[in-house]
Amino acid sequence: MSKVSIINEFGNLKKVWHFIGLYGWQRTLFKVVGKLRVGKLSWIGRPVRIGEQNIGVIGCGQFAFASIGYFLLANRGRCIASCFDVDKQASNSYASALSVPSVADEACDLIDDPSTKIIYIASNHYSHTEYAVAALAKGKTVYVEKPVSVTLQQLASLSAERRRSSNRIYAGYNRPFSAAIRDLRSWCADLQSPLTLNCFISGHQLSKDHWYREPKEGTRICGNTGHWLDLAVHILSWNELPDRWQIVVVWSDQNNRDDDFTIVLTSERGDLISIILTARTEPFEGVNETINLQWGNTIAKIDDFRRLTVWKCKKNGSYKYEKKDLGHESAIMQPFSDTIRDFSEVEKSTLLMLEIADMVIQGIPSRQFSFADSWAKLGISGEHLEK
Ligand SMILES: NC(=O)c1ccc[n+]([C@@H]2O[C@H](COP(=O)([O-])OP(=O)(O)OC[C@H]3O[C@@H](n4cnc5c(N)ncnc54)[C@H](O)[C@@H]3O)[C@@H](O)[C@H]2O)c1
Repeated sequence: MSKVSIINEFGNLKKVWHFIGLYGWQRTLFKVVGKLRVGKLSWIGRPVRIGEQNIGVIGCGQFAFASIGYFLLANRGRCIASCFDVDKQASNSYASALSVPSVADEACDLIDDPSTKIIYIASNHYSHTEYAVAALAKGKTVYVEKPVSVTLQQLASLSAERRRSSNRIYAGYNRPFSAAIRDLRSWCADLQSPLTLNCFISGHQLSKDHWYREPKEGTRICGNTGHWLDLAVHILSWNELPDRWQIVVVWSDQNNRDDDFTIVLTSERGDLISIILTARTEPFEGVNETINLQWGNTIAKIDDFRRLTVWKCKKNGSYKYEKKDLGHESAIMQPFSDTIRDFSEVEKSTLLMLEIADMVIQGIPSRQFSFADSWAKLGISGEHLEK
């Protein structure tokens, strides 16, 4: 073994050790096996009764394995009945490790199967809407990973199908489900004044040819930044989401506009949101986030979803979470829970995200944006959206 590979191995072991502290050993095991695709992990899920093995998974990559697969098995037992991936090796290794009895040859085989009741979609970004619309049209309950759409036409078709099929759809945006955001909400009762929110993100370094970057896939704005745009829309929706916004995007490298940038949003009410994403170095323990908020007389700081500190007049609160809680479990378990999210919030954050992705793709640093005007251009009225 060369010196370099020994150092790499040591770095990986150190990382695994850190992950056990952050996420617990079982989830860490799923993360490792998801990468290596060796061994069987179905022992973690109890056997289920006939009829309860009724979930189909489309896209069998790392997130489908280490997050969706882990939380489904841990909470519902061996409930995954079938899976599909364009890469046969990915679907075969997924089925073998998680004891999934059937590997579909085509996505439509899984979507058309009457015994499949719930479909989880964790494939490439461009394919999400098409799978979600097809599954909703077949009467399935759908969980679709973020971003739910990467074009306005996709968003319009998803929104139309969502309303037609009475909301059987859940999105993978997980930050709103985190313990820190839920605890923060209880401190933010009097919300008439403008919000100030800042998110500082140390993101993963992605290779130049990583699929997230492809314009067809929506760039890193749709791949990553959508999380904090969605979080901002969620927090603003605790009161009333202002309609008109000024958007400014500043990137540090004109030739690489979806890494190392700041997005600033100011509303007609005076809300001030800023999101800065840096990917100049690889964060050892995964994406690292610091979130600061001021709203009325509440000031709060979230430190990487491990700690929340709140100050409100003479009161203050301090929360420490045993494991890093990004809200993945509650987001993934939405189809089985009362803790669900109003999907129209996700549609609004997607509309805003697509506007910003377009600015970054075209190199346009500043624009006016209105939710109502953008919906109207798509032929959707605000009234319809809330249904
Ligand atoms: N919510 C979160 O925090 C979070 C974190 C990571 C990833 N994700 C999301 O999960 C999804 C998967 O990401 P990942 O990290 O697992 O990526 P990945 O590259 O590990 O997996 C993607 C898989 O999709 C498959 N695929 C590609 N095109 C397909 C198609 N048309 N039909 C079916 N399968 C197809 C690929 O072969 C691959 O196996 C993405 O939407 C990503 O944004 C969410």
